[in-house]
Amino acid sequence: MFMGYHIITALDIGSSFIKALIAREDKKDSKIEVLGKGIVACGGLRKGEILHLEEVTSAIAKSVNLAQEEAGQKVKSCVCNINGSHLFSTLSQGLVSVSRADQRISPDDVARALHQAENITLPSNKEVLESFPIDFIVDGEKGIKQPQGLKGNRLEVRTLLLCIFSPVLENLTKAVLNAGLKIDDIIPSAIAAARSCLTNKEEELGVLLVDIGSATTGMVVFEEGNLIDYEVFPIGSANITNDIALGLRTDIVTAERIKKEYARIFSKGKKPKKKSASDKIQIPDKSLVFSKRELRDIVESRVSDIFTEIQKVLKKKLSQKLLPGGIVLTGGGAKLPGLEDYARQNLKLPSRIGVPKGIEGLEEDPSLSVVAGLLRGKSGFMGWEAPEEADTGFFRKIGNIFRIFLP
Ligand SMILES: Nc1ncnc2c1ncn2[C@@H]1O[C@H](COP(=O)(O)OP(=O)(O)OP(=O)(O)O)[C@@H](O)[C@H]1O
Ligand SMILES: [Mg+2]
Repeated sequence: MFMGYHIITALDIGSSFIKALIAREDKKDSKIEVLGKGIVACGGLRKGEILHLEEVTSAIAKSVNLAQEEAGQKVKSCVCNINGSHLFSTLSQGLVSVSRADQRISPDDVARALHQAENITLPSNKEVLESFPIDFIVDGEKGIKQPQGLKGNRLEVRTLLLCIFSPVLENLTKAVLNAGLKIDDIIPSAIAAARSCLTNKEEELGVLLVDIGSATTGMVVFEEGNLIDYEVFPIGSANITNDIALGLRTDIVTAERIKKEYARIFSKGKKPKKKSASDKIQIPDKSLVFSKRELRDIVESRVSDIFTEIQKVLKKKLSQKLLPGGIVLTGGGAKLPGLEDYARQNLKLPSRIGVPKGIEGLEEDPSLSVVAGLLRGKSGFMGWEAPEEADTGFFRKIGNIFRIFLP
């Protein structure tokens, strides 16, 4: 119907919502315009992973139907996310001797080096989802992005491997296929968020993106344009809601309302000191009264849990990194007022809220960063492009799964 356009469907399977977008991408200038959107609440996940398959399948089908109605067309396949705290990353290296007599590095040498780096021993039920090359080293010379054609004896590659607990991947694939959609690609949530929120300049400089969802927080770190770390931990904005419900002795729906309406996080030295009459908050239809201070303490302790995890990663894994690109906070949880200042103070880094940029017809809302990034796929990713022969394990693995689940 749309000549000169690709139709792309993005599906973000989140712990609180399933979000679907149908968009068209102009083949000429790659501009993306959203044609339809469907967002459906779903309780079938736990900490980013599918727990109740049928519930998730039906929510996927509903969200895609809503998007189809708005877009006025049907879709058959999608790009979806994968998330959960079983996702982990590890650095790996591959080393081969250059095979040609003239010592020019061939695509085959590159492929062999990459395969060797991907060929690591993992505990049972874990597999490499994808490999992100960082750089090549030719006869000890580091930082090479395109080794093909260069002369040398030893070719090494350093790569970040993203690994996953296989049953999580299988359940995800089942849920999407059962909803009647094929899968074009699967992209980890925080990488998708980075695709829609970060600038190339930030990725070059060194930047940490934090996707605060409802039940998980994902972190990705880029340096010199490369992905160098990926972490997920099982705390998110729903932990704040749950604690509000417990602390103020109310139900989850009211707690969520209170969070969205009244919660904020204060940076040190910015807390209101004086007690005043307006210190009390009343929720009349629930005959609930509480002090702003009570709410503040609850929000502060859960947000501080999240930042303790971020600090751990910064200290343990990134001790040498300066990250002049700063920290970019996104995901629905990043909508908490005051978070940007809090992050700046807590991490002593430049900080901003990340929203999806440059997609026509889509609000610049942090909770849409992942689904928007899925529309972009991996295009324009890193300054490095894999030669065809050097395709990583990702498509092979996914290919096998398609074979298992497709009729
Ligand atoms: N204005 C707001 N203030 C505070 N929190 C908010 C606000 N709006 C949304 N949230 C929170 O954002 C969370 C939802 O974010 P998001 O849609 O990114 O999560 P998700 O993708 O479903 O979950 P996950 O990524 O953990 O699987 C909810 O916990 C919600 O309460
Ligand atoms: Mg999410």
